[in-house]
Amino acid sequence: MNKIKIAVQKSGRLNQDSLKLLKDCGISIDNGKDQLKASASNFPLEVLYLRNGDIPQYLRDGVVDIAIIGENVLIEKGTDIAIVERLGFSKCRVSIAVPKDAEYKSIQDLDGARIATSYPNTVLNYFKQFNVKPDIHLINGSVEIAPNIGLADAICDIVSSGSTLFKNNLKEVEKMLTSEAVLAASPNISAENQKILDKLQFRIESVLKGRK
Ligand code: PRP
Ligand code: MG
Repeated sequence: MNKIKIAVQKSGRLNQDSLKLLKDCGISIDNGKDQLKASASNFPLEVLYLRNGDIPQYLRDGVVDIAIIGENVLIEKGTDIAIVERLGFSKCRVSIAVPKDAEYKSIQDLDGARIATSYPNTVLNYFKQFNVKPDIHLINGSVEIAPNIGLADAICDIVSSGSTLFKNNLKEVEKMLTSEAVLAASPNISAENQKILDKLQFRIESVLKGRK
């Protein structure tokens, strides 16, 4: 039987809420321990657990048909990928932060500043409108530590509760964008899988209405 392939974040903040949404849609997924792939027993769906940053490329290549992913990841590297539904969870913002004691008046202060981030395109696009050129240092995780170890003057990362900034003596100075979990679809989805997606989307919309 044909199954739609959905990418879900392997570990991290979206993982549990994504699986909860599928469960609330009445879809039972048989999760073996440490398995990277699982099938639903009562819906034509297969779940692939992937790294966040890899998901846009998998969608583009049609390796997966759909994904539950942070909108911020699509803004960073998947602007060509369509959002099918906004899911209302994992809300956060993508912000610039500097050391708590640093003097900060405006974004002009960051001209030539070293900015540690996993979101280079987002930073460059935002800064372009102010004609400010940052010096990007690409880091894949634990970005907030960079100013404390002398690696950067500022950081750009996701802020949710703000606790990571607080713990690292940083203050949020620019809110670049807000984000939430979204359902995204491959530009190469087959007609057959589109039908399954329509059914899934119908269920998701019912669940989201019930949550309001
Ligand atoms: C994420 C993100 C921030 C933090 C924001 O990191 O990169 O560091 O969460 O959340 P908060 O405002 O509620 O503290 P995560 O802990 O997922 O780890 P990583 O950066 O190593 O991927
Ligand atoms: Mg982090």
